[in-house]
Amino acid sequence: MSSHKEGWGSRVGLVLAMAGNAVGLGNFLRFPAQAVQNGGGAFIIPYLVSFLLMGVPLLWIEWAIGRHGGKYGYHSTPGMLDSMTKAKWWKYVGVFGIFTNLTVAAYYCYLESWTLAYVWHSITGAFEGKTATEVANFFNHYVGIVDGGFFNFPVEAIFFFLITLGVNIWILSRGLSKGVEIASKIGMPLLILFGIFLAIRALTLDAGEQGAINDATMGLNFLWEPQFDSLTNPKVWLAAAGQIFFTLSVGMGSIHCYAAYVRERDDIALNAASAGWMNEFVEVLLGGSIVIPISVAYFGLDWVVAPGNVGLFMGFRTMPVLFQNWGPILAALAGVMWFGLLFFAGITSSLAMGQPVMAFLQDHFKIERARSAKLFGACVFSFRCGVSSSMDTGRSRNSMTGQEHSHLWCLHCSSR
Ligand code: TRP
Repeated sequence: MSSHKEGWGSRVGLVLAMAGNAVGLGNFLRFPAQAVQNGGGAFIIPYLVSFLLMGVPLLWIEWAIGRHGGKYGYHSTPGMLDSMTKAKWWKYVGVFGIFTNLTVAAYYCYLESWTLAYVWHSITGAFEGKTATEVANFFNHYVGIVDGGFFNFPVEAIFFFLITLGVNIWILSRGLSKGVEIASKIGMPLLILFGIFLAIRALTLDAGEQGAINDATMGLNFLWEPQFDSLTNPKVWLAAAGQIFFTLSVGMGSIHCYAAYVRERDDIALNAASAGWMNEFVEVLLGGSIVIPISVAYFGLDWVVAPGNVGLFMGFRTMPVLFQNWGPILAALAGVMWFGLLFFAGITSSLAMGQPVMAFLQDHFKIERARSAKLFGACVFSFRCGVSSSMDTGRSRNSMTGQEHSHLWCLHCSSR
């Protein structure tokens, strides 16, 4: 049981932090990819049904477990589960609520660091005048895919990774109300503002204008025209439910942890629903109105639905090229906004992965806040290096390009 007394400063702060927990790279990179791969309008109904019937109830359950644990001074799942039952072994089940966060953080923070690097490169105009192949090569080079090379050590990627971890550690060390809450109060509004700007720019693209071959709204129709025959396809349901789990951050011990700092008398039903709906607003309305409409406008629907074209990395490999069609100033601005919104989305989620790990160290080992934040950062870094070097047993084939390369820091080669 803990002696550390922390809590949220305000209700707005709590809801924004919880929404920041849920709103992440998944909303802007994973959602469009899943929607496209599962037939656009065919995906939306199973997705919304999963949100209402599974997502919202799970949020309520996790908030309730968290607040209950918090009452007994527990802020991570092992203690919470222990406080709920007499059976001794339950607390060990709670270990999953620590390790899931650590393992997700190991690749998530790395992706988040790419977005920071790309904000920087958008500001310096690194993509200006580059062709699609050059921008794709820029990305390959950044992540360390050098064909024919034996040992790739992408110094710049590791540099930005360390900066990103440093920022996370710094915010986490400041504590909940002075760190995470302030970060969410700054990050969430900016992210929504940038998202609205990009969505409006995207949806007003018409065929024949600035290099577009289709109206961008064609992409929107693809996403929003319901296709009822998909309702019998289990694969689509599984993908939809999977996206709901990922995007709401449920089943990971993270929501439990944030909810443990809620005051005993605070309302949780309404706050949980507000945060959940805010995530859906950002995911479906903003996340669904940027990548898909823009790529349909420039490449056409056939290209977008062809397997392998729209994936998690499209945001880095293709978006900077498409922005170039808008002229140098708007291209730079769109780049900063796109990668900036990804960074804010990412960091408010990675903080939510760090907090449960820290709470566990604080509650059970009495390790103070700043040290536990550093320990989290060190774990994430070594997990990331560990994954890389354990895979670096030889050469492997890139699932996107089909090319062979040595394999140190590359994230492509998994099925993601
Ligand atoms: N929900 C986040 C997103 O959409 C991702 C996420 C997965 C997450 N697991 C988490 C966030 C655990 C915080 C904690 O990108």
